[in-house]
Amino acid sequence: MKVAVVGTGYVGLVVGACLAETGNDVVCADVDAAKIKNLKANKLPIYEPGLEPLVVRNQREGRLTFTTDVGAAVERSEIVFIAVGTPPDEDGSADLQHVLAVATTIGKHMNASKVVVTKSTVPVGTATKVRAQIARETTTPFHVCSNPEFLKEGAAVDDFMKPDRVVVGVDSPEAAKVIEELYAPFVRTGNPLIMMDIPSAEMTKYAPRCGAASGRTGASARHSCFPAPDTAGPVSPRM
Ligand SMILES: NC(=O)c1ccc[n+]([C@@H]2O[C@H](COP(=O)([O-])OP(=O)(O)OC[C@H]3O[C@@H](n4cnc5c(N)ncnc54)[C@H](O)[C@@H]3O)[C@@H](O)[C@H]2O)c1
Repeated sequence: MKVAVVGTGYVGLVVGACLAETGNDVVCADVDAAKIKNLKANKLPIYEPGLEPLVVRNQREGRLTFTTDVGAAVERSEIVFIAVGTPPDEDGSADLQHVLAVATTIGKHMNASKVVVTKSTVPVGTATKVRAQIARETTTPFHVCSNPEFLKEGAAVDDFMKPDRVVVGVDSPEAAKVIEELYAPFVRTGNPLIMMDIPSAEMTKYAPRCGAASGRTGASARHSCFPAPDTAGPVSPRM
């Protein structure tokens, strides 16, 4: 699948490299020109065990590219991850200015229907803001998903390649299908891909043990909070 990861920091680089490793065609985009120049030369801004070989191999084999042209990255992709920083604001809440700036760019470059996935750690309700921001710029239909990240520093590649669970909040059966296809290689060993509505997914970052607490594991957890695509009627996003 053609994937763009916008924001090539700690999270974006791990996500981009791991998605390329499973055969996707990934472009990592960032406004930091020095960072992108270094990444093109396989110079990584962070150390994570196993990350450098993934970047080198996938870049060499053409599945992973780096760019400062965020708009072009969006245009050539079916799935767009938002993985920019959300530093604490003056009052301690997450500053969404970078997330919403990316949403504006995505809207301006929405040349076909896409699935937009927030990876950044954001408060509940952010997907609604992202959707509204994109919709200001385009009339093309699109999907928004929330896919909180639980990577641990020092084990980020392992955590992404062999996750305990993947949590995704989706707004429609179509988006769920795309996400299932993208994450299939990472949940082959039986760890669950847990689909739910978007606010619930946004909440999991603040209550990370809630998936485990539900007592649902393995294949039975798939679509546990969301109707299966073939049985569901149209689903209105619960925002
Ligand atoms: N670091 C972690 O351990 C960790 C784990 C889980 C989740 N998260 C969350 O993931 C998100 C990203 O964290 P990080 O540590 O990777 O951040 P980071 O600061 O390392 O990287 C963010 C990148 O986004 C880029 N950026 C900012 N605005 C941009 C724009 N408009 N267009 C394109 N690129 C832009 C920056 O140049 C930077 O390279 C945050 O919300 C964070 O809370 C982080």
